[in-house]
Amino acid sequence: MNIALLGFGVVGSGVYEWCRDREDLNVTRVLVRSPKPAVADISTTDFNDIVTDPAIDIVAEVMGGLHPAYEYVTAAMKAGKHVVTANKALIAAYYTELTSLAREMGVGLLCTAAVGGGIPWLVNLARVRKLDAIERLGGIMNGTSNFIMDAMHAAPVSFPAILKEAQDLGYAEADPSADIDGDDIRRKLVISANIAFDAVLEEEDIPMFGIRTVTDSDIATFKAKGFTCKLLATAAAAEKGVCAYIEPTLVSADALEAAVPKNFNLITYEGVNMGRQSYYGQGAGQMPTAANVVQDCLTILGGERGFYTHNATPMALDGENEAHPYYVRTSAPDQWLEDNTAERWETGVVTGAVNTYEMLAWAKKQLTVDPALFIAGIA
Ligand code: HSE
Repeated sequence: MNIALLGFGVVGSGVYEWCRDREDLNVTRVLVRSPKPAVADISTTDFNDIVTDPAIDIVAEVMGGLHPAYEYVTAAMKAGKHVVTANKALIAAYYTELTSLAREMGVGLLCTAAVGGGIPWLVNLARVRKLDAIERLGGIMNGTSNFIMDAMHAAPVSFPAILKEAQDLGYAEADPSADIDGDDIRRKLVISANIAFDAVLEEEDIPMFGIRTVTDSDIATFKAKGFTCKLLATAAAAEKGVCAYIEPTLVSADALEAAVPKNFNLITYEGVNMGRQSYYGQGAGQMPTAANVVQDCLTILGGERGFYTHNATPMALDGENEAHPYYVRTSAPDQWLEDNTAERWETGVVTGAVNTYEMLAWAKKQLTVDPALFIAGIA
């Protein structure tokens, strides 16, 4: 099959490398913004050269961002081309439209690299849910934030310096605040939950709290108490829809999640009958992420069409039954926090079991009073 690459950045050049010596997948066109010597003979700056070329079977979108990626991907599918993308922002934002278009046109639309980098998470999630109902899923879904948290647990570090290292290694998003504040994870969680629960969740409605305000002193306290702090995503089947959220979480120092190093991810689903199955691997980085793009091309070459699931029903967020204790560090405790405080630690307080959505709403409001606030759920 002939592939046109949209973009030749970290992931695009990785896809090119993976395909270079293959006979079954040929990169025959590359859309670039500026000249790229490595692909000078096949590059173009005009998307029309790709969409009108009948010899191109698959458009692999690895440019990122919403626009013009959305226009290119929809035009490619309307022209009868399969689309493979690593763009989680695009799939999360236009989920219903893009998945319906793929079905309508009878083309493949796959985005395995969009969630978990090089981990074959989405394909296995889609596979298991054909047989078993998923109760819960989530875990460590961002390589950059795990890289930062891992380094902070190893030794006191400068947050900007360790973030710069993650950027230099090609893990971070173009705007790394997406990695730190949870937006990147939220997109991955939306795509995963939609596939798991045949849902369409509104990305912006999912509450989240990131790691921007965590300090070395917080980490020292957690370690002294036998905990490791990780930024975790959760989506669970709920009575009136899906309960989804992202928050730093204190896991026992001997939990699987605590052992996840560097840019690795650990993503888990719990099937009603299958029980817990976890997927571990490099969640970011050039060759692992590019490998999942190429694997999707091979899946299409094998005859797969459409998206991972054929159903997409808008669903509400329902956090009614989700509650656990929280660590809270704030310089401006209010009455609500006092009323819910169960214990005092060196650097903050620990609440009794508090409803997750209530806590995340409180934290969002509290950040306007105390921008240095840090909270973490306790697993
Ligand atoms: N910035 C993302 C991460 C890249 O750090 O996980 C992979 O999606």
